[in-house]
Amino acid sequence: MKHQVITKTDDQTRNLGHRLGQAVTGPVAIALTGDLGCGKTTFVKGLARGLGVNARYPVTSPTFTIINEYPAAKNLRLCHLDLYRLGSAEELAYTGFDDLADAWAVIVVEWPDLLKEDRFAFDLELKFSFDSDYHRVISFFVYGQTGANMLSKLFS
Ligand SMILES: Nc1ncnc2c1ncn2[C@@H]1O[C@H](COP(=O)(O)OP(=O)(O)OP(=O)(O)O)[C@@H](O)[C@H]1O
Ligand SMILES: [Mg+2]
Repeated sequence: MKHQVITKTDDQTRNLGHRLGQAVTGPVAIALTGDLGCGKTTFVKGLARGLGVNARYPVTSPTFTIINEYPAAKNLRLCHLDLYRLGSAEELAYTGFDDLADAWAVIVVEWPDLLKEDRFAFDLELKFSFDSDYHRVISFFVYGQTGANMLSKLFS
């Protein structure tokens, strides 16, 4: 782990997402892990704006839709997944996920465990947890050069 940020409000979490979105220059896959209600979707709301997703697209949790997609800047699209309700990695095939991996996309996945078992290669993982004051502790883990470049931009 290289970096850790503590956010005291949901606005601060959104803001961190916004800044990470601004650090994106091309396709990247980001895993968001941590317990229910720890702020993963809140983070993506900010990330979307930082990626240039127009404010007329409200970012909602993909809990039931599994995948939500939004057009972003730089010809990218934001693909926001929540695999909490998915029973198996095979079910993922029905969501059209395989096509995404080749697309010019920012892939952000809540509850990514099934994909990790499938050895899908994430560039970055953000682990969310609560501290004793109920603030959010967000720890960054880098798995490759793309992730490393983004983090050096974010924390420079
Ligand atoms: N510092 C904070 N960062 C993020 N959210 C916060 C913070 N403080 C309070 N909250 C609140 O906590 C809740 C976080 O919910 P959110 O849907 O983002 O969590 P989640 O991790 O996506 O949960 P799930 O696993 O159910 O998808 C929101 O109601 C948000 O307003
Ligand atoms: Mg969520």
